[in-house]
Amino acid sequence: MHADPVPLTARRAGPLTGHARVPGDKSISIRALILGALAVGETRIGGMLEGEDALNTAKAMQALGAKVVRTGERQWVVHGVGVGGFAEPKHPLDFGNSGTGCRLTLGAVAGCPITATFDGDASLRSRPMRRVLDPLERIGARTLASADGRLPLTLAGARDPLPIVFKPPAPSAQLKSATLLAGLSAPGETIVIEAEATRDHTEKMLAYFGADVRVETLEGSGRCIRLAGQPELTPQPITVPADPSSAAFPLVAALLLPHSDVVLDGVMMNPLRTGLITTLREMGASIEVLEPHQQGGEEVADLRVRAGQLHSVEVPAARAPTMIDEYPILAVAAAFAEGVTVMRGLKELRVKESDRLAATAALLRANGATAEIEGDDLIVQGRGRIAGGGLVQTHMDHRIAMAALVLGLASEHPVRIDDASFIGTSFPGFVELMRSLGADLS
Ligand code: S3P
Repeated sequence: MHADPVPLTARRAGPLTGHARVPGDKSISIRALILGALAVGETRIGGMLEGEDALNTAKAMQALGAKVVRTGERQWVVHGVGVGGFAEPKHPLDFGNSGTGCRLTLGAVAGCPITATFDGDASLRSRPMRRVLDPLERIGARTLASADGRLPLTLAGARDPLPIVFKPPAPSAQLKSATLLAGLSAPGETIVIEAEATRDHTEKMLAYFGADVRVETLEGSGRCIRLAGQPELTPQPITVPADPSSAAFPLVAALLLPHSDVVLDGVMMNPLRTGLITTLREMGASIEVLEPHQQGGEEVADLRVRAGQLHSVEVPAARAPTMIDEYPILAVAAAFAEGVTVMRGLKELRVKESDRLAATAALLRANGATAEIEGDDLIVQGRGRIAGGGLVQTHMDHRIAMAALVLGLASEHPVRIDDASFIGTSFPGFVELMRSLGADLS
């Protein structure tokens, strides 16, 4: 799929103007496919992300015995097999670049009496899986083969799954979700206690499908999630809202290109996903939330973004789970702001599609900006203007690629990236959408 790298160059252009709708949310699309496969009957999904991360999850659900059919543009139907009903796949499941697809499916398989092999591309093969295997082994799954807790790995699901109490060692929605999905097959109550709240799409969607899920808020921002095992999941229609993590790229581009005025339609505003908007507003950004409404259990709104000078801020570590995928693009905004921006507590960025902490600092430095890593903090010296002219190594990371291109749209000299092909994992049509707003990408 990604045999040939596709270099791409971003050049400064006029203002960005107009309306756009970014693709469906990656987290929700992947969960809709997996819960659809675990429900009995037909789940209809509208607005699905048709990027490779979601498509690889769709293929995996099919290999596990569900029927997954594309019925129209972004319209999909999943015929599920029920909790515990997965069939043993004949071939290894290939998740490509997708940590979420892989880790959530590990959880779903861990509660079924089948054996499956999980694999992915070089980026996913380098990412830690031991952290997710630990709770799944306590539930009763067995890891049959895995070099150093990484892919490729073979998992034998539990014959008699046990309900567990799990405290994730890191703030990770993937760890929480994998444990809850495995817990679906266990008799009794599976409990996840997270010290800091992370995106809650799994628990919300499980409740929407009829599972008994209770969420209690703990001191600080922590949560305790209790799931009653062995529910029958009832299919519900799902409309996937636009992905706030994808909207982040045209949003920041519009802030940085003078006289821009852009409306991004139907963006999910789940409070556990909106840390970037909070931060940019603290930096002085003009972001108006228009027509907020509920859609399929999630808050959704149109965002009107107008260009303006930003100033630096200190982003507290506690905010990281609500904007964990947005630091590369926030760092780009910070490079154009006035003053020194400090982003604290970014340890988890080291285990994303790339070492995103290092890759973000490198993309700024390659273009004349000043960025330092101190412990787990990223410190960006804002300059108001950036020279650009650099070649950015994207390390198979879609968000590094898009952040570098946005930097190039606002820099004095063009910015080139080594490979744009991974953008399609989360944001198919990125180049066309940005061009439709007035961006110069070629
Ligand atoms: C995701 C959780 C986050 C995020 C990823 C999507 C999810 O990962 O980075 O893009 O859908 O659960 P972690 O759970 O590892 O923080």
